[in-house]
Amino acid sequence: MKKLEVEIINLDHFGRGIAKKDKPIFIDNALVGEVVEIEITKDKKKYSEGKVINYIKKSPLRVESDCPYYDKCGGCDLLHLSYEEQLKYKENKVKEIIKKFSGLECVNKIVPSVQYNYRNKVTLHVNKKVGYYQKKSYDIIAIDNCLIADNKINKLIKKLNNIDLNTINKIMIRTSNKEIMLVVEGGSVNIALFDEVDTIIVDNKVLKGKGYIINDVNNLKFVISPNSFFQVNQIGMFNIYNQVLKYVDENTNVLDLYCGTGTIGIYLANKVNKVLGVEINSSAINDALLNKKINNLTNIDFKLGDVGTILNNNNFKADCIVVDPPRAGLDNVAIKNIIKINPQKLIYVSCDPVTLARDLNILSNDYNVLEITPFDMFSNTYHVECVALLTKK
Ligand SMILES: C[S@@+](CC[C@H](N)C(=O)[O-])C[C@H]1O[C@@H](n2cnc3c(N)ncnc32)[C@H](O)[C@@H]1O
Repeated sequence: MKKLEVEIINLDHFGRGIAKKDKPIFIDNALVGEVVEIEITKDKKKYSEGKVINYIKKSPLRVESDCPYYDKCGGCDLLHLSYEEQLKYKENKVKEIIKKFSGLECVNKIVPSVQYNYRNKVTLHVNKKVGYYQKKSYDIIAIDNCLIADNKINKLIKKLNNIDLNTINKIMIRTSNKEIMLVVEGGSVNIALFDEVDTIIVDNKVLKGKGYIINDVNNLKFVISPNSFFQVNQIGMFNIYNQVLKYVDENTNVLDLYCGTGTIGIYLANKVNKVLGVEINSSAINDALLNKKINNLTNIDFKLGDVGTILNNNNFKADCIVVDPPRAGLDNVAIKNIIKINPQKLIYVSCDPVTLARDLNILSNDYNVLEITPFDMFSNTYHVECVALLTKK
């Protein structure tokens, strides 16, 4: 493979260093100002990708990571930057993307989370020991500990590595503030060995517990079941939900689109008049109905289906619409219907600033975008969440 010495001139939106020869070269684990010797790993017509084989000049911003797997593991991208620098990078990235794709300059300071032990869900693959997939590959890198995982998960990883995992090929661990769920595929475990685990599911069969766990914080209970979306960082989740709560007005009617297990709507329910949540995943809707019951709420309801189709087939009225779509953002049918419903306020929770900027561009024909706040939810990765507040023109 060809070797080159290059200087890093910028970071891209995936946290990779950018160098330029005859075309851009994207390089993992390389910071602005660093001079590195690289090996070209991919050579395309318009760009190349490279891997550092030697750091000739290091950036003063570089920190040595405590993770022994960082070089190979596909989980984190920014462990070589201090947390403070990661936050600056993410805030600037949102500002750049929003300005470039929607011309807006109303991005606030980023709201931090914590750097380590925040993830309440990991998916492990098994090759005698448990591990993560390596970057851009299905090769498994065995791990004993993950810096970003909840400590309850790390204790369980150590235990799993000390037993015979026989034919098991995949293990998901999810935690709430108090409970742990183990979801196993391809083989079984001896449940007597896992006293600390509240629910165990093997090949879709519940062997122990209720088949779900409950997150119980600030008098609010949220069900987490194996197939439903639940925010992976509880601190980040409450930061975002508090922002949405601050934006909604009292005694209004709210539509919570892409509602997952209904958590945002439930968080708002005591302040507003009524909430209707819409969600495509039936497991999440079942959890949402259970959440309604265990939180003794009577002013929230849910509809199962695709947001665009449900809005097309109903005549909803809402003072405020909250949307929290997946990375793809809103589709044209959803946008057309949101504009038709004509809410005074629109609160857009986004996990991809590029699709957020695209959608704000369209929505800003009818709405003023007052502010966009980035939130750190996935420390040590390039990902960043945003909450945007829009009001009717
Ligand atoms: C980012 S999650 C947000 C969930 C929830 N607001 C929360 O905070 O936990 C996006 C949710 O949108 C759902 N979803 C994806 N596409 C959808 C669609 N076309 N219509 C309705 N829901 C959809 C997913 O199943 C997922 O639960």
